[in-house]
Amino acid sequence: MHLSHVGTNKICFLLSVVFCALLVLLIPSLQPPQRQRDLPQPRPHAKPTRAGHTHDLQRNPSSAGHQRNDDAKEDSFTHPYAFRGRTKDLQKVLERAQANSPRSRSKDSLDLRDIFIAIKTTRKYHKSRLQLLAQTWVSKAKEQTFIFTDGKDKELRLKTGLNIINTNCSAAHTRQALCCKMSVEYDKFIESQKKWFCHVDDDNYVILPGLLELLSSYSHTQDVYLGRPSLDHPIEAAERVKSDGSVSVKFWFATGGAGFCISRGLALKMSPWASLGNFITTAEKIRLPDDCTIGYIIEALLEVPLTHTGLFHSHLENLLRLPTNNILKQVTLSYGGFENRRNVVSVGGAFSLAEDPSRFKTVHCLLYPDTDWCPRKTHH
Ligand SMILES: *[C@@H]1O[C@H](CO)[C@@H](O)[C@H](O)[C@H]1NC(C)=O
Repeated sequence: MHLSHVGTNKICFLLSVVFCALLVLLIPSLQPPQRQRDLPQPRPHAKPTRAGHTHDLQRNPSSAGHQRNDDAKEDSFTHPYAFRGRTKDLQKVLERAQANSPRSRSKDSLDLRDIFIAIKTTRKYHKSRLQLLAQTWVSKAKEQTFIFTDGKDKELRLKTGLNIINTNCSAAHTRQALCCKMSVEYDKFIESQKKWFCHVDDDNYVILPGLLELLSSYSHTQDVYLGRPSLDHPIEAAERVKSDGSVSVKFWFATGGAGFCISRGLALKMSPWASLGNFITTAEKIRLPDDCTIGYIIEALLEVPLTHTGLFHSHLENLLRLPTNNILKQVTLSYGGFENRRNVVSVGGAFSLAEDPSRFKTVHCLLYPDTDWCPRKTHH
């Protein structure tokens, strides 16, 4: 009895030692898994204000189909430009980008060369609008600015040295034609390896120092979508990509006419709905214009909010109201053009309203007074 009692004690002792050893070994694996996805992301310290965002997919089933357009060509539409030759290259770029760790080198200083600037135009405006841009701001960002148009223009290319890309898209001002151009812009940006994609129209003046300063306060590896909302409320459309269109979706979008910018990190995430002609398919599904479709992909599908900024300006706003002493601190400007000649920024200087109806030359000479065609200031 005594012996067996000792034996039992020994066995108990040994068992508890084994148990403790097992416990020590198991502790790390018993701990709850690290939730890496939930690590707080550093928020960009934005100067522009963020408005409230609503992502209530389910809350508004009553207004489904509210934004529906009447043409039902969605399935028969084929995009007019050939993706075939470039598919492989783009795929490679996308794959390489996804393999790279996205958060390395996030806080390096931004250079103008890191920004891809796409100007959307049409053949009809090559003379009246592009020459003004080539003479002014584009001359300071020639290498990274690309003109997306719908016709060849060897003369303009030779005369101005602009990077002109013939999208082969239709010259009509239709949703399909505009989305076709945006689709080519997106693909060219991805191929370019640049950090930021900025889209502007052919009646925008881009204040390059302002653009650089704005983008410098964000990281291109994070999800950043910057622009001016064209409405004071989110747009509502039938959800036809993730569901059958019986529910509606609300989202903000940046108005294309004022220009907008997208970080490379975010642009890469858009690729399933935006690359290689998928942009046209997405736009056809929701039946909305190009800039709305961008907002839809980013806000509704990727759930990344638009960062609202008042620094971008289109010809749809009252440009006269922009305070004169703030004009050079903006990112984009515009002008009323043929329909509304008087809607221009009020800035005085080198040229009269008759000499410079858009005010772009005047702005340019204030920013770059050493430009050879700017009137010399009389120094003493
Ligand atoms: C447009 O068509 C021309 C001639 O077929 C081709 O060389 C060019 O790559 C096309 N552009 C785009 C953006 O696909």
